Amino acid sequence: MTAQKFIIEGGTPLQGELKIQGAKNSVLPIIAAAAMCSGETVIENCPEITDTYSSTRIMTHLGFNCVFENNTMIIRSSGQRISEIPDELMREMRSSIIYMGALTGSLGECTMTFPGGCELGPRPIDMHIAALKKLGAKVSDEYGIIRCSAENGLHGAKINLNYPSVGTTENIMLAAALAKGETVIYNAAREPEISDLAGFLNRCGAKIKGAGNSTVIIEGVKKLHGCTYSVMPDRIAAATYIAAAASSGGEITLDGIDRGVCESCISVFEQMGCKFYEYSNRIYVDAKRKLKGVNKITTMPHPGFPTDAQAVIMAALCKSSGSSIFVENIFENRYRHVDALVKMGADIKVIGKAAIVNGVDKLYGAKVSATDLRGGAAMAVAGLGAEGITEISEIRHIDRGYENFEGAITKLGGNIRRA
Ligand code: EPZ
Repeated sequence: MTAQKFIIEGGTPLQGELKIQGAKNSVLPIIAAAAMCSGETVIENCPEITDTYSSTRIMTHLGFNCVFENNTMIIRSSGQRISEIPDELMREMRSSIIYMGALTGSLGECTMTFPGGCELGPRPIDMHIAALKKLGAKVSDEYGIIRCSAENGLHGAKINLNYPSVGTTENIMLAAALAKGETVIYNAAREPEISDLAGFLNRCGAKIKGAGNSTVIIEGVKKLHGCTYSVMPDRIAAATYIAAAASSGGEITLDGIDRGVCESCISVFEQMGCKFYEYSNRIYVDAKRKLKGVNKITTMPHPGFPTDAQAVIMAALCKSSGSSIFVENIFENRYRHVDALVKMGADIKVIGKAAIVNGVDKLYGAKVSATDLRGGAAMAVAGLGAEGITEISEIRHIDRGYENFEGAITKLGGNIRRA
């Protein structure tokens, strides 16, 4: 496919209403969990993003057939069961490591290559491997190939995570769902997507308690059956469109999401001077005032401020009064969007884990290149509030996690087109 780009003309305050897509970071582990189920699984509110298509390619390779249309994915097992995933499928997205738990848990073995790194820093999987070993798997990881085997199946274990890793928590939940006995995860990740995965697994017959808290208990069962499940809304996509409204000085309504899942982002937007009104499953944002700098924004595991919202909120704060300090604690290399924002006229200095943003009055459109998913979205957020034309290349990064990004921005009155 030829390289595409977004052409954005800034200056129009966003306004209007947008339905928030299903959550990327929930649907990816849920699709992997469907690989453990017999019968048919129907996943609703499934976002149409390239990571979802990557998942269907992996599932098809594993012997499932997937039908994906109008945000509904139907997955049927075809009896044949494959336990290895080739490199070209593994490398399409980092989260393919989630199949290690799903395959070892359901088939007693798996062979796969390391998921790529470098986008946000190394993406080590040491905690994933250590957890699978505690559950009774033999794991070798020579020459970039991971081989797991547990010929007598996995057994429950008590696992203490020294860091509340989202992917590791999910991999353990999958692997332990069909293991013999009880597994307890201490210091588990508490992200809402973890609760969504547990909701799906329990509807498939699993016995998981405590998801969303630091201690999660999984009682192994004999088998899992398919079910129908609707994916939670994407809180990071919501934060992105709120940042776009803030950057352009507009007012928008988000449909299909409640404040609860994006509380830590909304409280930062309120400190910036945005006003929020919520009712039932909708959030109304008034971002017409000039934005104020926010003294300190520190990314933390949930329920702290999410690292995935750091880039897009930084983009909105480029044009503000006062200064803001970001501290990025989760990933080593998650300021790759700063150079592009500076090229657009922002005043940002990165010192180690900190980034200091001195608000400026104006940003200028420029030619920039998306570095990663949220960094690319940040460039679009800045472009919508800049004077003139911004061209963003490498937008395949944005397409990984945002469903019809240009359609969403256009629906909100923004001037954007895909070329
Ligand atoms: C998930 O990644 C999300 N991806 C990320 O979203 C998100 O930024 C991250 O959680 C934190 O919330 C999906 O859910 C598909 P981690 P994950 O394991 O599971 C280190 C986006 O933009 N670590 O909590 O990889 C790791 O290097 C993406 O939507 C180890 O050292 O996150 C990182 O520094 C980006 N060893 C930190 O922990 C391990 O074995 C957080 O990783 C595992 C992780």
